Amino acid sequence: MGIERTQEVMNILHKNGQEHIIQFMQTLNDYERELLENQILTIDFHQIAELYDNTKRKIEIKENKIEAIPYFDKTKMGSSKKNQLDTLGEKVISTGKYAVVTMAGGQGTRLEHPGPKGTFKLDVYGKGKYLFEILIDNLKEANKKYGVVIPWYIMTSKENHEETQKFLEKHGYFGYDKNQVILFPQGELPLIDKEGKLLIGKNKLIKLASDGNGGTFTSLRTSGALADMKERGIQWVFIGGVDNVLLKMADTTLLGLAIEQKVQVASKSIVKANPQERVGVFCKMNGHPKVIEYTELPSKMAEEITDEGELRYGESHIMCNLFTIDAIEKVSKEALIYHHAIKKNAYLDEEGREVIPQEPNAYKFEAFIFDAFTFFDGIAILRGKREEDFAPVKNKEGIDSPKTAKELYEKFWNMSH
Ligand code: UD1
Repeated sequence: MGIERTQEVMNILHKNGQEHIIQFMQTLNDYERELLENQILTIDFHQIAELYDNTKRKIEIKENKIEAIPYFDKTKMGSSKKNQLDTLGEKVISTGKYAVVTMAGGQGTRLEHPGPKGTFKLDVYGKGKYLFEILIDNLKEANKKYGVVIPWYIMTSKENHEETQKFLEKHGYFGYDKNQVILFPQGELPLIDKEGKLLIGKNKLIKLASDGNGGTFTSLRTSGALADMKERGIQWVFIGGVDNVLLKMADTTLLGLAIEQKVQVASKSIVKANPQERVGVFCKMNGHPKVIEYTELPSKMAEEITDEGELRYGESHIMCNLFTIDAIEKVSKEALIYHHAIKKNAYLDEEGREVIPQEPNAYKFEAFIFDAFTFFDGIAILRGKREEDFAPVKNKEGIDSPKTAKELYEKFWNMSH
């Protein structure tokens, strides 16, 4: 049995140009070899080949198919209109049909925080607050206002799941009803080097990494979280990031707008600060809503100005997105495209020696949350205000750092409370 299985694994590796792993296996004991074989048998080599092929193709932005996208400006909305939308939104939240998902599976590499990003403490009001705590404050405020406890789903990565759980336990979920907090891990994909070869990690297994925040939809379904939402009668789901300390997770105007516009997807935007800002921008491609990520937006498009003097592609995606439960189910069964980035990744060579590369050596594949928009005809975009809606903690220093986030956070809370 063991020999047959080993032979099957060898054949797979041969067939897929991964002979270096066969060689590496000679360095393993029986137990280690069995673990690696088990893992190899779960890998979809067809997908690996496809992902690798895609790294040879550049993601093409066909400008002639792209146009600017319409949006509603919250600041120009009359108060009666706003009240009307708020009433629509409030009805959904106060009747328990609203849930929130926080995507917290990212590594936070740029921030250089050793641990899940939500466990980063922002130095606000002397005592400081953890990013998770700031999100919980926001939810608690909504709960109080609408007389409910909003179920909160947190997407972790395989890497940070346990640490996230322990952190929240240790802090008593910052006073949130722990029965309403559901953690679910996101999926992973192998890393591939420039020749299409899989990397071996220090644990003597194929090296895997999180599959990007676009994995949220599938992970919601496969983890059972989506079924749980349905059981609770949830109709609308907010999906947001972990690192924006001004994120409004229960915005009744946004929700009301989605309902009024009869769309399944809605998103809050803000005006892009400058052509170089590291945010995705909304547009329409082939008539469907789309976000072009900052890493993929051609600089000519980034700089284009309208007759009114605004950036043509200036509606920024701030990861403040709303979906109906049906929309989530639909996207969870679709294949989102994978974007790739080349990064430095240590690995074990054929002899089992660790190699620490000096240059980026391996492709990481990620699906992006906003690629889900393309599956829908319409989207309601509500343009909010930077000083009320967006203070991200991304970098250790400079732009979008703890320092800028602290300033914006304290300014907002001093003015509004
Ligand atoms: C992201 C957006 C960008 C937006 C900007 C605003 C994506 C792909 N890009 O860019 O359009 O303008 O925020 O701040 O969403 N995450 C996971 N799992 C992963 C990867 C990320 O849960 O595998 C989570 C992170 O924890 C974080 C969020 O997704 O909450 C955004 O990830 P990050 O990599 O920081 O995105 P940005 O490059 O800042």
